[in-house]
Amino acid sequence: MNLKDSPDNRHKRIFNLIAPVYGLLDRYVRRNFEAANRIACRMVDVKGKRVLDIGTGTGAWAALFLENGAGEVHGIDFAEKMIRVAKKHHGEFIRFNTGDAMNIENFEDQSFDIVTASFVLHGVKEEKRRMILSEMKRLSKDAVIIHDYHGPTAAFTRFLEYMEKSDYIHFKSNFYNELTEMFPNVKRKNLRNGAAVYVGYVS
Ligand SMILES: C[S@@+](CC[C@H](N)C(=O)[O-])C[C@H]1O[C@@H](n2cnc3c(N)ncnc32)[C@H](O)[C@@H]1O
Repeated sequence: MNLKDSPDNRHKRIFNLIAPVYGLLDRYVRRNFEAANRIACRMVDVKGKRVLDIGTGTGAWAALFLENGAGEVHGIDFAEKMIRVAKKHHGEFIRFNTGDAMNIENFEDQSFDIVTASFVLHGVKEEKRRMILSEMKRLSKDAVIIHDYHGPTAAFTRFLEYMEKSDYIHFKSNFYNELTEMFPNVKRKNLRNGAAVYVGYVS
């Protein structure tokens, strides 16, 4: 790994590197993801709605929206190898593309009803997180749904986040406030596994 890499490039390299393993882990996270997605879909009506999942990885979170009644689901990720695995697993029903969440040029304002991100925003520093959140808000008509850390974090996860040089500690203490600064109405439902579903309602 090139030590002079920018944080973005290093991030992308790591996710490209782990994409095949990530795909294998989908079935282990499935039960937690299913529970979280059910809660998300109670907080926001997804029936028949158009959903965009940013930082979709291998598409496991995106696929659950379809299972819970969304009309059309898209996923984007800047790691090409993640998108390759996502297409293999869910490409029949979901449209996946490579793209940077900081600047999703190919979609106009309010192109989607709901824009979501699962375990993406804790990975970047606050300034960048605010840029991604504002891009998510720009694209959504109804709400943004964030599935990410909250509360105590297991030791192995802490190790992974340390290796990734993520912002998860600051994220856990600050993210709810960041959301309230950007959205008129915000809700959070805590999950049992050190995560939460956060919703910023646009309208
Ligand atoms: C921890 S993984 C989560 C994957 C998936 N959302 C899930 O919950 O299983 C974070 C994903 O976000 C992607 N990502 C991070 N920063 C991104 C950015 N600026 N634009 C697009 N994708 C990004 C990574 O490539 C990676 O696939």
